[in-house]
Amino acid sequence: AAADKGGWSSFMAKEVSEEPEAVANTIRGRVHDGTVQIPELEGLDELFTGIDRIIVIACGTAAYAGMVGKYALEQWARVPVDVELAHEFRYRDPVIGPRTLVVSISQSGETMDTLMAVKFAREAGAKTLSICNTQGATIPRESDAIVYTHAGPEVAVASTKAFVAQITALYLLALHVGRVRGALDAETIAEQVRQLEAVPEKIARVLATEQEHIEQFAHWMADTRSVIFLGRHVGYPIALEGALKLKEISYIHAEGFAAGELKHGPIALIEPGQPVFVMVPSPSSSPLLHAKVVSNIQEIRARGARIIAVAEEGDAAVLPFADEVLRIPLAEPLFEPLLAVVPLHIFAMGLATAKGLDVDQPRNLAKSVTVE
Ligand code: G6P
Repeated sequence: AAADKGGWSSFMAKEVSEEPEAVANTIRGRVHDGTVQIPELEGLDELFTGIDRIIVIACGTAAYAGMVGKYALEQWARVPVDVELAHEFRYRDPVIGPRTLVVSISQSGETMDTLMAVKFAREAGAKTLSICNTQGATIPRESDAIVYTHAGPEVAVASTKAFVAQITALYLLALHVGRVRGALDAETIAEQVRQLEAVPEKIARVLATEQEHIEQFAHWMADTRSVIFLGRHVGYPIALEGALKLKEISYIHAEGFAAGELKHGPIALIEPGQPVFVMVPSPSSSPLLHAKVVSNIQEIRARGARIIAVAEEGDAAVLPFADEVLRIPLAEPLFEPLLAVVPLHIFAMGLATAKGLDVDQPRNLAKSVTVE
């Protein structure tokens, strides 16, 4: 049953359609009466009270989920967080010890680079927690604690539903740690829980209202040779994820940048016709960041960039500067990435399909890389 496309043209199409459930199922059983209680972490408060630092390690898409998670962990749990690629972390001399919690993220739970980094962290005396989508996999077995994502089996090589489930698990973890450490009051937790619980339905709305439009648009873009993605704050890792997905399955050169970094280099890449996806923060919940991103858009638009804005419903400020607008429902800043990534997944899939490529089995890639 796990290997059944269930009427979809590809596993990837099926898995993108399952993004709402991936979030909902990851929340289920961990939220009670407006508070977050993760049963797997029962009795393990020491893991969170006895630390002064968290290091998130992962590879590929999971590492971008980790970058999004950092914003929530720092904002809610008030613990300093670093995010590092597992293979980089492993081969340097990091300052870690018993007061470090190393959080690994892996869909498969078998990625060798991540596994080696977890073992290395453990040998150095750090505490380890695994966020994993595969029951009983090696990485969770090697860790002190496990929070499973419940995205269901992911078959397509490029990760989609696991990504939104990983962000969800990180947010639940951040609220849990914030509560255990006394960094959050009950009211704040209840409010964030409400926002998180609203996400599945909002993702479903993006799929229902934007999917066809984005696929059509991807079709027109089939001859594009390079795409740039820009974002700020949590939109930055989403820009990186959008670029990665395009590289992985459509073999188009794509780069993600922090929008604020444009003027320090990447703006030199902009020439007439260059497509640029811009993750536009919410004008109501992040007015400052919104204004900054709109001015970034104006700068590149003046140099001929073709702007594809991923923007909140009702945001009219982007209209005069955007060649294309992909709409997402209203959300607080931390919840935007769970919505903004959906159009990017659909776009990558649509473009690869338009090029006649096999979206499930991209060349040179494996679903789970079990060698270093
Ligand atoms: C491979 C896959 C990627 C995935 C990465 C991490 O490179 O092709 O899609 O993001 O591994 O995989 P994991 O199973 O550890 O999340």
